[in-house]
Amino acid sequence: MVVTSKPHPTQANIAILGAGAIGQLMFHKLGLTGQATEAEPIRDVVLIGRQPHTQQHTLQFTDSNGQTHHTTATILNRNDAQLENINLLLVCVKAYQVEHALQPLLSKLAQHCHIVLLHNGLGPHLAVSAALKHFPDLGLSLGTTSQAALKISQWHIKHTGVGVTQLGHYCGTPLSAELKHRLQALHRDNQPLEWHQPVLPILWQKLAINAAINPLSALNQCANGQLAAEEYQPQITAIIDELVNVAKCDGIELAPAQLLNRVKQVIALTSANFSSMYQDVAHHRATEIDYINGYICQQAKRYNLATPTNQSLVTKIATLSQQDKASQPT
Ligand code: PAF
Repeated sequence: MVVTSKPHPTQANIAILGAGAIGQLMFHKLGLTGQATEAEPIRDVVLIGRQPHTQQHTLQFTDSNGQTHHTTATILNRNDAQLENINLLLVCVKAYQVEHALQPLLSKLAQHCHIVLLHNGLGPHLAVSAALKHFPDLGLSLGTTSQAALKISQWHIKHTGVGVTQLGHYCGTPLSAELKHRLQALHRDNQPLEWHQPVLPILWQKLAINAAINPLSALNQCANGQLAAEEYQPQITAIIDELVNVAKCDGIELAPAQLLNRVKQVIALTSANFSSMYQDVAHHRATEIDYINGYICQQAKRYNLATPTNQSLVTKIATLSQQDKASQPT
């Protein structure tokens, strides 16, 4: 029997799963070499797409100074043999797509590949870490970013929001020093890149921001800034109080007053933005509600805690999505 061992590339070969606005933003941040205007190929970063064959596209990136960069990107097909050279995989699909998109790739990646989940909400890390028990050489980090990007067209994005990217190891083989260094490119434009150990408290803090802003802006069809109005404060306080109780049972201590201040700060900082859930509803797409307020309710059930405010938001968003589906032409 011939035993072939998988390659263990020492050089960073990065793939980004999901070519939406955040996936393309990560691609440009990790790959840009500084040249604008010319279509320069980005060599060690690829995107992974759903198309039947690997292909190349010219991607455009309008940075926060309004300068547009053109780059040639390889979009790998999900069965491409080159996947075995990937030693860093950034997962930038929506929370509800993570498990389905990632599972078939696990056996195809380089032996010590490190996976980083970067999505709104919580929950997929539980299924992914369970799946990684069958791939003990792989590693998993979790993260969140407050950077924002807007799709101008399929392969042109505009950087619309600057902010911090926070990452931390979750399970399996830790990220190598070389890959960690390579990720410093996310710090491009002086946007902070922070490493946190443990990472879960950071993700619960981001969950609080999304749990307050996303469903309320989607249900009230308003920009984030409108949630500063007095009428929304009792609901926002109740969302946060319920979340803090659930997090505590999960072993995460959060300070409610501090969290509430942070939510108000993000409402002010993103006042002109329309949240991702507002946009998902407006564009008739599935929402991440089950991984935001839904995750809080799901964890609450494990501890016999009541989360009536979060539960009512889950129900209202689900009803809104169903009404929307029913009103769409078949
Ligand atoms: O999901 C979103 O829209 C964003 O995470 C946030 C921070 C709520 C700003 O709109």
